Amino acid sequence: MAVEHPRGPLSGYADEAVTQGMESPDSKERGPPGIPASSFAGLDFSSLWKGRERTTLVESELVQRALGEGPIGRLLELGTGNGRLSSQLQARANEYVGADRTPEFLRELRGDSDSSRPPRLAAADGYRLPFREAAFDAVVMVRVYNFLERPTALLQEIRRVLGPDGLLVFSCDPRPSIATLVADVKWALADRRGEPFRFATFARQRSVRIHPSSFPTFAPNYPALAEDIAAAGFRVDRVWSSGLEDYLPFRSMPARFSLTLATALRPIPFLPTLFVRVRPGRVDGRPRQG
Ligand SMILES: C[S@@+](CC[C@H](N)C(=O)[O-])C[C@H]1O[C@@H](n2cnc3c(N)ncnc32)[C@H](O)[C@@H]1O
Repeated sequence: MAVEHPRGPLSGYADEAVTQGMESPDSKERGPPGIPASSFAGLDFSSLWKGRERTTLVESELVQRALGEGPIGRLLELGTGNGRLSSQLQARANEYVGADRTPEFLRELRGDSDSSRPPRLAAADGYRLPFREAAFDAVVMVRVYNFLERPTALLQEIRRVLGPDGLLVFSCDPRPSIATLVADVKWALADRRGEPFRFATFARQRSVRIHPSSFPTFAPNYPALAEDIAAAGFRVDRVWSSGLEDYLPFRSMPARFSLTLATALRPIPFLPTLFVRVRPGRVDGRPRQG
C-alpha cells in the first residue's frame, strides 16, 4: 500500500509520470524555459571533476551543514548533473527527488543507482517545475545559479514548490571573486578576434556575462544576489564560503582545514563560492555567517 507523504502528492499528475522524465502539461504554461543555448548535454563530468575530489568533499560537508541535523521529509535536488552530490542527499532525506533539464544526466543517474531504492528523477526546467505548491521541505541547488539568466524567476519557482517552513540551500559565485579575476585574465589572453576587452570583476552592471565560457555563465555582484533572493520572497538565514580548494595551490589542503580557512576569510568578499541557506520570508537583518 502506498504511504501518503505529509506534503501530499508531488504533482497533479501520477507522481511516476513526473519522475519518469515527462514534463507535466501545466508546467509549460508557467513561463518560458531557461536559455535554450545552455545545453549541458555534451558536458563530460568525469574529466571535468578529475583531481577535484577535495572540492566535492568540501561541498558535501557544506551542504550537510546547511541542511542541519533535523529530519528532512521530501528534498528536491535541482540541477543534479551526473549526481556528484545525489547519493548523500538521497541518504539525508526521507524522500529524494532529483531534477535536471538535461535528460542525459538523469539517465546516467538512474543507471548508477542502487536498484533497491531507485531515485525519483524528473527531466524538468527549474523555471517551470512540474510539482505542486509546497511539495518540498528542502531544495538543494549546487553549481547552477551562475548559469541562470533570470535567477529571480527560478528562485520564485523554487519558492512556489517549497513549504512555508522549508529551506533552500544553493551555491553561487558572486563577484568580485578569484573566479572572475581568473576569467578576466583568461579573456585578456584569449584570441578575441576584434572583440573589445571586457572586465567582469569590477564591472558596474549588477550581473555580467563571463567570457570565455562554454555555457552562458553570469556573475551577479553581491547586491544583485541579495536583491534576487529578496525579490523571490526569501530571506537569507546563513552563508558559508568555499572554493579555495578548487585552486591548484590549495588542492592538497585537507578538507577540514580548507573549511576552517574559508570561514576565517569569510569577511573578505573574494572567495569564489558562497553556500547560502535561505527560507521563505522577508529580509530581517544580517545573515549569520558560517
Ligand atoms: C555545472 S552542473 C552542476 C551539477 C551538480 N549540481 C554538481 O554540483 O555537480 C549544472 C547543472 O544544472 C543543470 N541546469 C542548468 N540550468 C537548469 C535549469 N534551468 N533547470 C534545471 N536544470 C538546469 C544542467 O543541466 C547541469 O546538469
